[in-house]
Amino acid sequence: MQESVVVKNIGLRGVTVADTAISFIDGQQGILIYRGYRIEELAESSSFMETAYLLLNGRLPSKSELDTFDLTVRQARGLPDWIYQSMKALPKNADPMDVLQGCVPLLAMHDPDLHDESREANVRMATRLIARLPEVTAAWHRIRQGLDPLPADENLSHAANFLWQVSGSKPDEETAHDLDCCLILHADHTFNASTFACREVCSTRAHMYAAVAAGIGALSGSLHGGANARVMAMLLKLEKEKDVEAWVKDRIDRGERIMGFGHAVYKTMDPRAKYLKRMAERLGKAKGMEKWANLSRLLEETAVREFDKRGKTEIRPNVDFFSAPVYHIMGFPRDLFTPIFAISRVAGWCSHVIEEKFAEAQEKPMLYRPQAEYVGHYCGLMGCEYEPMAARG
Ligand code: CMC
Repeated sequence: MQESVVVKNIGLRGVTVADTAISFIDGQQGILIYRGYRIEELAESSSFMETAYLLLNGRLPSKSELDTFDLTVRQARGLPDWIYQSMKALPKNADPMDVLQGCVPLLAMHDPDLHDESREANVRMATRLIARLPEVTAAWHRIRQGLDPLPADENLSHAANFLWQVSGSKPDEETAHDLDCCLILHADHTFNASTFACREVCSTRAHMYAAVAAGIGALSGSLHGGANARVMAMLLKLEKEKDVEAWVKDRIDRGERIMGFGHAVYKTMDPRAKYLKRMAERLGKAKGMEKWANLSRLLEETAVREFDKRGKTEIRPNVDFFSAPVYHIMGFPRDLFTPIFAISRVAGWCSHVIEEKFAEAQEKPMLYRPQAEYVGHYCGLMGCEYEPMAARG
């Protein structure tokens, strides 16, 4: 093989590939900021609609701007009948994340702005995606149970309408508000794997829907958004097994991962996890389901102790660890946990797609094209001599 100096960075850790003005993480201190605002502040005082506006437009809206944005999203709810019919043809055991990812190109075919390359058209597409990913998720959950999808209720907020369309009953204000908070907390997270997938796809000048479909695919994996459903599976298992300490030790000693722990950027507890931990405790008490918050806390304490004993003091709970008990207490089935993440993160993905396509105050975005070191079969630059099938036996 030809001699060359290869600078390798497996997994792109620590490599800066672009500028972004959308969000910022301080991994040492456990701080997450959207467009200058700390997420705790947004979770306390904002709404998902306002946060989505902030991410997309770079500033908080005025009252009338927020009202208009909210109304536009409400009016964009609803899917054409042929998309419902397409979903009805799917196998009932299809994973909701696969259905969600598969429906995004269908939504593209229904979007009149698809081939308009302007910023305004991309913002309109973002608005429709924010409105329609919850519709697809809720519709699929009904269809797979043999039920008809429920029409959106234009009087309900984004989170409340989703709860209604999934469960078939109008939620109380507190639950809708708590879900809205969860959506705020998950809405963006700099260059995580799914956002990078979106940016990478649209760097080829592919449209927003192609990028978002890639983002959903990346999010589904168990090391990324798919971890929240695995955390719940782990809690359900531990509820039966009881011996949390023995289970944790055994798992770590066998080199297996504890889902909902560790992070590529945070070297301390994820600030979203701190917020969701308190929410799980409060909701557990309010709904008589304390056992899930208690079990999560016991698992957290045990795992932290065991990681510390092994010198892995940076492995702490991430967002997926406490969102799992929260969604469980809210009554969502486990396989909707990751779609709920997607319903929120779509606001961030679309903002990143727009930044990738139109950012002015940064180095010009360009087609992402990393390299790989070739370690395969090699016979020199002339290539190997092709051996005919007859000679290979
Ligand atoms: N359980 C047990 N060991 C772990 C864990 C974990 N959850 N996370 C990291 N480690 C160990 C890992 O085995 C490795 O050990 P060693 O050096 O002895 O081989 C060391 O820590 C470094 O692992 P890494 O994969 O190189 O570290 P990373 O910082 O790139 O990992 C991660 C980040 C999220 C992939 C990893 O922490 C993980 O697999 N966590 C479990 C899955 C999970 O919760 N994912 C959600 C991530 S946050 C929200 C989101 O993106 O959805």
